[in-house]
Amino acid sequence: QTHFVIAVDGPAAAGKGTLSRKLAHHYGLGHLDTGLTYRATAKALVDRGLPFDDEAVAAAVAAELDLGHLDRSVLSAHEIGEAASRIAVMPGVRRALVEAQRRFALTPPGAVLDGRDIGTVVCPDAPVKLYVTASPESRARRRYDEIIAGGGTADLGAILADIEKRDQRDSSRADSPLRPAADAHLLDTTEMGIEAAFEAARVLVDAAL
Ligand code: C5P
Repeated sequence: QTHFVIAVDGPAAAGKGTLSRKLAHHYGLGHLDTGLTYRATAKALVDRGLPFDDEAVAAAVAAELDLGHLDRSVLSAHEIGEAASRIAVMPGVRRALVEAQRRFALTPPGAVLDGRDIGTVVCPDAPVKLYVTASPESRARRRYDEIIAGGGTADLGAILADIEKRDQRDSSRADSPLRPAADAHLLDTTEMGIEAAFEAARVLVDAAL
């Protein structure tokens, strides 16, 4: 096949990013973490002192985004994720970013895209769709362990509250809410390590190749 797309969706901290990177590497595909596109838009607004409640302004900034220069290290801050989920409710912002995401997906030899609406909106024709989820408690625990391993300090209860708030905002918005596509394979990683999740995903992708 000359062109192949794997759509990976799910809530925050479910393990989609790590799984998507491994899949892209294994199958020789590109990888786009679409959350970074929302994060980069939010950060550009902050950096330029622009308002967060003006959809036309946010959409114009989104339209100028260069997907080739998304730096995870400066975009991973918690406050930027929070700000991203606020501008992600704006249809004008989503239109601009989805257009760029589709261009990325269509670039040969294809790509793994991960986010919230890849299987439902961005790439509804993707031959493989995965919906990666895990209980809010285990997602909070993973985030917490990551921060502690990185030498930081964290409050497990506060992380859990944040995750639940973000789930609620992402699932209840009118435009492209977080939900599994009808033809998505559900992968619940609550009791699963990354290797087991990767093996399960690989079986599903191989079956579609
Ligand atoms: O996945 P990540 O935490 O980086 O995403 C940040 C925010 O961007 C999410 O909470 C969500 O509101 C938004 N997002 C989205 N659609 C995507 C990817 C991310 O709305 N495809």
